[in-house]
Amino acid sequence: MRIVDGVSRSLNEFLLHPNLTGENCTPENIDLSAPLVRHRADGQSPVRVALPLVSAIMEAVSSPEMAIALAQAGGLSFIHQNQPVAREADDVRTVKQHKAGFRHSDLNVKPSATLGEVSELLRGAGQDVAVVTSDGTGDGVFLGLIRKDDFFLGRHPADLPVSERMRPAADLVTAGPSISLQDANTLLWDQRLDVLPVVREDGRLAALVLRRDYLLHKRFASESVDGEKRFLVGAGINTRDYEDRVPALVAAGADLLCTDSSDGYSVWQERTLKFIAARYPEVHCGAGNVIDGRGFRFLAAAGAAFVKVGIGGGSICTTRAQKGIGRGQATALIDVIRERDAYARETGWYVPVCCDGGVATEKEMSVALALGADFIMLGRVFAGTRESPSRKVTIDGKVFKEYWGEGSRRAQNAARYGQGEEDLAFPEGVDGLVPYTGSLHDNLPVTIAKIKATMVSCGATTLRAFHETAVLEPVSDATASQNGAQVMMRDRVAAAAAS
Ligand code: IMP
Repeated sequence: MRIVDGVSRSLNEFLLHPNLTGENCTPENIDLSAPLVRHRADGQSPVRVALPLVSAIMEAVSSPEMAIALAQAGGLSFIHQNQPVAREADDVRTVKQHKAGFRHSDLNVKPSATLGEVSELLRGAGQDVAVVTSDGTGDGVFLGLIRKDDFFLGRHPADLPVSERMRPAADLVTAGPSISLQDANTLLWDQRLDVLPVVREDGRLAALVLRRDYLLHKRFASESVDGEKRFLVGAGINTRDYEDRVPALVAAGADLLCTDSSDGYSVWQERTLKFIAARYPEVHCGAGNVIDGRGFRFLAAAGAAFVKVGIGGGSICTTRAQKGIGRGQATALIDVIRERDAYARETGWYVPVCCDGGVATEKEMSVALALGADFIMLGRVFAGTRESPSRKVTIDGKVFKEYWGEGSRRAQNAARYGQGEEDLAFPEGVDGLVPYTGSLHDNLPVTIAKIKATMVSCGATTLRAFHETAVLEPVSDATASQNGAQVMMRDRVAAAAAS
């Protein structure tokens, strides 16, 4: 038995001191880009993202829609692995079909579909327009577009076929398959279009160019794309069926993989990584989760592309209460980062570290990055957005989204929790609701602005500099609870009155 000195601390227990802010240390000059996979310590990572945020390997969080939306903003998603291999591979394929600027159409109907059906479809997807094709797929013959405002169900019968109200292809501006993105965008603006269908010579739909995507590109600037401009996407695997799952995900085009386990310090993870290294040496696979330097070194030595840190801190997690296993996330990070840097000095290999679980606010994100995390995995934060795959629920006029842990009775993710049986003997997570926060694309600019503002105060324009120069200090409970204690704030009073 060994007792570790001191107590472990959470991210929330730290505050940052400002450093001298230089003239060029302004939000526009701050670079939040981060390495995702191992690389020579003096070189560049082969996979980098402009925004150091990735979505959790969870059914309630990472769908193809989330993956596309997050990649558009410069981050990355990991499709979850608690589903049949073929289905996970299909999800990966769906993301890889979309090229930045040229979208594969995924909201399609046949001309015989009813207005009632299309209305449901548009409402469910939160979109204004669907594409009408001969066979109702994104590759069928392009027949027209049907918009939300092309019909009104009080006026038009719900069983009227879409063909009666759609705008037919002949009346629409379309482009040929060889059009460049620049010309397509010019056409969008010159012709005042929201959607430009790109149609092949044989009449089949090739892609859509959307005004929305153009605006997003201007807003976020650096999408996460591969060499062919397809969105980057990650995929979770497990230590049980990796011999089947890995080949299918690689064939589907996954850009990186990650073992999904609540406790990654195991020979099973090592075996999985060694299998991938032997069969697919070009494939990057992260591993985890660990909470100390020993776990990090073990996985780094086994070939992990990155190592995920965090046990017990997740918002839906009950592991600490059920098993007594875990560690405060800040202390876990400090220990692992120390080992990451020592490993880089000794071997010449830099293995990025991902902070996973319990990060709910930008303050916690900034503290994690200052402590040296290369990127951050978020579950709860993304689960509340429009793009997450879970259901919206309204209770007493307040809107939520469902969010459940992979170790909950609902998910029954036995491969992640490895209690020895097919079914979980006891849950390690809960099934709950989180406040609905609207579109990811409206939330992320605020998140980015806050992290950049922290870095400006700390005088750092890159994440590496932020980590090297940050000054952090644990705070007392009294300090943490000081704000707002004595002042009745107008917005709190207004919020209380409204609720
Ligand atoms: P959050 O961002 O605080 O919601 O935490 C998300 C992280 O919690 C995931 O990335 C997983 O590492 C972890 N996690 C997911 N499901 C469970 C569970 O059921 N129990 C414990 N941890 C979980």
